[in-house]
Amino acid sequence: MAKLKIGICGWGNVATGLYEQLINGNEFYSDWEISCIGARRDNSRCNPGSTKIIRDIFDVVKEDIDVLVELIGGVETARDLITEALNSGKHVVTANKAVIFEHGEELINLAIKNNVRLLFESAVCAGTPTIKILSNDLSANKISKVAGMLNGTTNFILSKMEEGASYADVLKEAQDNGYAEPDPSLDVNGTDAAHKIGILSALAFNSGLPAPDFYIEGIEDIQPHDFIYAEDFDFTIKHLAVAKLSAGGIELRSHPVMLNKNSSLAGLKGVRNGIQFDTDLLGAFHVAGSGAGRESTASGLISDLHALSKSPEILPINYPDFSNKPNILNFNDLIFKFYVYLEVKDEAGVLALISKIFADHSISFDKVIQKDQLENSNVPVVIFTDPIIESEMQIALEDLTNHPEIFNFKIIRIEDL
Ligand code: HSE
Repeated sequence: MAKLKIGICGWGNVATGLYEQLINGNEFYSDWEISCIGARRDNSRCNPGSTKIIRDIFDVVKEDIDVLVELIGGVETARDLITEALNSGKHVVTANKAVIFEHGEELINLAIKNNVRLLFESAVCAGTPTIKILSNDLSANKISKVAGMLNGTTNFILSKMEEGASYADVLKEAQDNGYAEPDPSLDVNGTDAAHKIGILSALAFNSGLPAPDFYIEGIEDIQPHDFIYAEDFDFTIKHLAVAKLSAGGIELRSHPVMLNKNSSLAGLKGVRNGIQFDTDLLGAFHVAGSGAGRESTASGLISDLHALSKSPEILPINYPDFSNKPNILNFNDLIFKFYVYLEVKDEAGVLALISKIFADHSISFDKVIQKDQLENSNVPVVIFTDPIIESEMQIALEDLTNHPEIFNFKIIRIEDL
């Protein structure tokens, strides 16, 4: 077999992690050659030795390489680079979930047209296998739901907050560990997880890349007290991304949830990601593993490079059928149970007022607790509701704002897994 000639584009945390694995790792890499590195600047963390360095990443495409590994991140320049590589007859391996989410249909069609491969195993859950599992190993199954904690940074933050750490301190630790994106707001605001579930949904349900509609919410408003109240009822708080097949179409959402502590994903802590696939033949099927960081991402990238070097003529995944897209459901029409946190004036009649507002919107309470007075002498009231349509809950929350006895409130949706 001829050597697989690799051009790496990007020279940050992930690219240097891949380089170090390829230089120091397993013996089957001896059939591979790092022909060049497209690096706009040096990285003091890693010495590339005598490997050819190219300052204009677009010049990497002109080199004698079989595969370009795109690790520059971002969307539009990455799209241009991948386009140029595919049009030049090079295979492309990428860890870039944003570019696959935003331009996946166009880029996959381009790969097919040019008879080359575009592989992106590490775009979802870094090295924890998901894309090939979903696309190949589960192909006999009808998938009804894919639900996962798909962002390592948010799971790391929430796990540490549950143990009492502060949000800001833990975010800094996630950045120092190389889990967070260069712009960490994409992690904490739910966008990164949305990109990943969008990719899985395209593979499971042909829902399109990009998906036309999505509900996205981050973890920025989660407070330590939410974990304490969740614990009272055997719940924990996670950030979950969901793609679910229903009668009228697909629901796509990425937001914090309360999960029963006994559910399969609730026990995954730190940077771990986990996914539950609901299938007809296997029932609920789970994968879990490290979802961010240089070593984990290198593992996924090398799995794609391995597939290319072993049999470049065989496509190791089944691309989505973009000619057959389903309807995407409106988030406001979905039904959830809710955790509602309210901070209210400590005076007679306030609980009755809250009950009336919710009753006016046909929202039934499953459990209600009033906690001890806060330092500001307000009292927290915590409600767990029965199932109600999202739009009705939003109208009820709007109604709460009309009452000066109610100072602030928040909801977290409850997910049954
Ligand atoms: N920032 C991402 C995360 C990296 O925290 O999950 C892996 O995609």
